[in-house]
Amino acid sequence: MAKTLNVALPKGRLGEKVYAMFEKAGFECPSIKEGSRKLIFENEEKGVRYFWVKPSDVAIYVERGAADVGVVGKDILMEYNPDVYELLDLKVGKCHMAVAGKKDFVDDRNRTLTVATKFTNVAKSYYSAQGRDIDIITLNGSIEIAPILGLSDVIVDIVETGTTLKENDLEVIDKFEAISARLIANKAGYKFKGDLIEKIRLSLKEQTENV
Ligand code: PRP
Repeated sequence: MAKTLNVALPKGRLGEKVYAMFEKAGFECPSIKEGSRKLIFENEEKGVRYFWVKPSDVAIYVERGAADVGVVGKDILMEYNPDVYELLDLKVGKCHMAVAGKKDFVDDRNRTLTVATKFTNVAKSYYSAQGRDIDIITLNGSIEIAPILGLSDVIVDIVETGTTLKENDLEVIDKFEAISARLIANKAGYKFKGDLIEKIRLSLKEQTENV
């Protein structure tokens, strides 16, 4: 029996873009476009099964082997450091990890800095490399509100177009890491389905070179 490749895709705009790349690579699954609320789609003939999962959960599915491969932002890999193979930079979903604060914010290095973020580990390692004491406030979204309401001095978050910062009167203090979507693979899955995964990787790579 042919092996089925399980692929975890991030639900949302990035996932749709990435699915189009898999389709172009010859691993189409037409039922995915039917606009239903289903989350799992299979093309038996091509030996591929796609799952739509929350972007921040893709790495968990892949690390634990529920998916053989997946597509995840470099931000998630930096934050959770999952035990997976990072196979390819897909060069989509580009943005930056940045520190931002209110326009009039002046850093007093003698005070502990309060930092609001979803990316606790990223923020800790960024500031520990600078020998800076920080107090982390972990939030799950709408991080930009924190400095405005005085909950934190600064935020560590993703900046894509910069619109969210601008519309909330915040500005970038330091853009410190370029982020983009990565193809990742489960380590055991890569051993058993390596030929198929390599075939997909090469075709996706070719597409990233033609943009
Ligand atoms: C992300 C990020 C910023 C915004 C940046 O939020 O946390 O808020 O996008 O994009 P921009 O620079 O193009 O404005 P997301 O939409 O994921 O929502 P969240 O508030 O739930 O994190």
